[in-house]
Amino acid sequence: MKRVEELSKEEAATELKHIAEEMAKSDIAYYQDDDPYLTDSQYDSLKTRNQQIEARFPELIRSDSPSHRIGATIKSEFGKVAHRFPMLSLGDVFSIDEVDDFVMTVKRFLNTAENIDFMAEPKIDGLSFSARYEHGRFVQGATRGDGTTGEDITANLKTIRQLPLVIQGNVPDILEIRGEVYMSKADFFALNKKYEAEGKKTFANPRNAAAGSLRQLDSKITAERNLSLFAYTWGEVSQRPWHTQQEFFEYLKKWGFPTNPLNTLCHSLQEIENNFKNLMEKRASLPYDIDGIVYKVNDIALQERLGFLTRTPRWAIAHKFPAEQALTTIKNIRIQVGRTGALTPVADLEPVNVGGVIVSHATLHNEDEIKRKNIRIGDTVVIQRAGDVIPQVVQVITEKRLADSQEFIFPQTCPICGAHAIREEDEAVRRCTGGLTCPAQAIERIIHFVSKDAFDIAGLGEKIVEDFYKENIIKNPAEIFTLEERNHGGEDLFSAGQGLHLERKEGWGKKSVENLFKAINEKRTISLPRFIYALGIRQIGSATALLLAKNYGNFTALQNDMIQKETGKLVSIDGIGASMATDIVEFFQEEHNLKIINDLLQQISIEEYVDTTNYASPLTGKTIVFTGTLEQMTRSEAKAKAQNLGAKVAGSVSKLTDFVIVGADAGSKAKKAQELGITILSEAEFLEMANL
Ligand code: IVH
Repeated sequence: MKRVEELSKEEAATELKHIAEEMAKSDIAYYQDDDPYLTDSQYDSLKTRNQQIEARFPELIRSDSPSHRIGATIKSEFGKVAHRFPMLSLGDVFSIDEVDDFVMTVKRFLNTAENIDFMAEPKIDGLSFSARYEHGRFVQGATRGDGTTGEDITANLKTIRQLPLVIQGNVPDILEIRGEVYMSKADFFALNKKYEAEGKKTFANPRNAAAGSLRQLDSKITAERNLSLFAYTWGEVSQRPWHTQQEFFEYLKKWGFPTNPLNTLCHSLQEIENNFKNLMEKRASLPYDIDGIVYKVNDIALQERLGFLTRTPRWAIAHKFPAEQALTTIKNIRIQVGRTGALTPVADLEPVNVGGVIVSHATLHNEDEIKRKNIRIGDTVVIQRAGDVIPQVVQVITEKRLADSQEFIFPQTCPICGAHAIREEDEAVRRCTGGLTCPAQAIERIIHFVSKDAFDIAGLGEKIVEDFYKENIIKNPAEIFTLEERNHGGEDLFSAGQGLHLERKEGWGKKSVENLFKAINEKRTISLPRFIYALGIRQIGSATALLLAKNYGNFTALQNDMIQKETGKLVSIDGIGASMATDIVEFFQEEHNLKIINDLLQQISIEEYVDTTNYASPLTGKTIVFTGTLEQMTRSEAKAKAQNLGAKVAGSVSKLTDFVIVGADAGSKAKKAQELGITILSEAEFLEMANL
């Protein structure tokens, strides 16, 4: 072999290509086939040779170079990646009966009595990723983020050796492969052991360790953590040669992606149930954590007919394993006051290990729940933890109750601000009436405002928000954006006199203060759904915020309607109920809310909502009515199709109707449409419009 110094540029290029191919082949043999074909020392010498050649000819570094596997540049923050096809989540069920219901719903929607095959896939407890390939080359990696926009983790994903950087054979020009990144139990224990020895903070579970490793700005750190992955679905693709989920897995394997060996095609509910029991037994001995099983309609043509609800597909569901439980004692019960003033009782527990996670608090939900379960301080209780939810107290072991156990008296006043706490008729929660004069509510509201799905200002953690509030530095969300200005007090940063001079505060310095301002300033433009969610209106989570954004398009339109209590449009939105509507309207009747919004608008701008998932269609924004029997699809399928295109489906014909779609044996509605001169469409005409 020639010495590196003697290589010509052409020779170097050829050799780099050869090394990249050899090492990729070896990675597949090692990880997928469990059949190493290079020895460790052969592999290492290729790696060294590759590094030496790249050091001499940096211009020849390939995008699929094995050197990327060891991490590249350090970033100051992650870039954003818009998902052309949203990354969805799944509905959960907890029993085989509910799975049966799901199967029935699928059949009813498709109006078929025929048997439907489901692919059953272990639900890996990691975090999802999307890997984009163009012309067979890996070009971009992203996290799920809020489902619409994720973070750019290209460099980090490259360090996972199971991810092919180049795929060969018959590959669509554009191909997004999605799946789960996870850390094996063995790697998790090894990492924690090392961290413990070094006196560092350990991870609670493999999922957190995987998330913490993948979301590293320094991809060298990602490379040091052993991450693994399984592929299981796709995003944008320019062609789709597979027709079933099963066939898709065959393609994945051919292209070199790891797929879970326990994926099983089930032909009946009985097979689904057997598979579930089998996996429950295997669960503990698997090398990675799973928290349930995902069922997907195998036939993709059927998946397409079934389509999607707001955030979840109709053609798939997650069957979760029963929650893990443990016994412990309640040391104390205290009250937490949330963003909306709700008083929530929380039990402080003797810390206990529940399925690998140390639990020291559990929610007791509300007053009635404590009474119903007859919970006292000092009691021995069964607690359980399911997925990401806050641990709960299942029941008291009354035989173990001690003589000195104390009943908990639920307070009638807010423990934080002392205001009356009242419970409305037929409401389970007691609420503090202090509003934003209650420090707990005000602080929680700011914490919510800067949280991940809202403004996502990483530099403002809960502790800092609390400190800043108590020291009168930030009393409401609008003041976040005037912080920098107030800090200078109009003078030089280091001069005496006015100004907050955060850099002189304990624990802060010039650099950390600058970073905070930078983090804040980057959020002076915000998307509409995030802004609506950030307001912290009762019952309005991010899915509902997205619905509002889609339907109103810009903030002014929403605000004007709400201030004038104009709720016609609001209640017509599928997914917004009467009680939500009341909460939204009430929020906009509060003077101090309007003032904060007004102050915010002096500081920031809200983007108009542009729907990237739906294509403009002649049906967008139209009100339509279906009548008669449809032949090519069921009524619910038709309705969903129309709604996906942004149409509103009404039950009766009026002047406001744009189209009436008439199936066989249509009756009075068709007649009324004729009288009102409304455009009447046949089922075929409707489908044609829908598919435009
Ligand atoms: S399919 C539309 N398949 O579960 C399809 N998800 O609750 C969406 N997950 O965000 C996902 N294993 O992180 C799918 N075999 C599997 C999965 C899986 C784990 C995770 C994934 C997703 C979450 C949904």
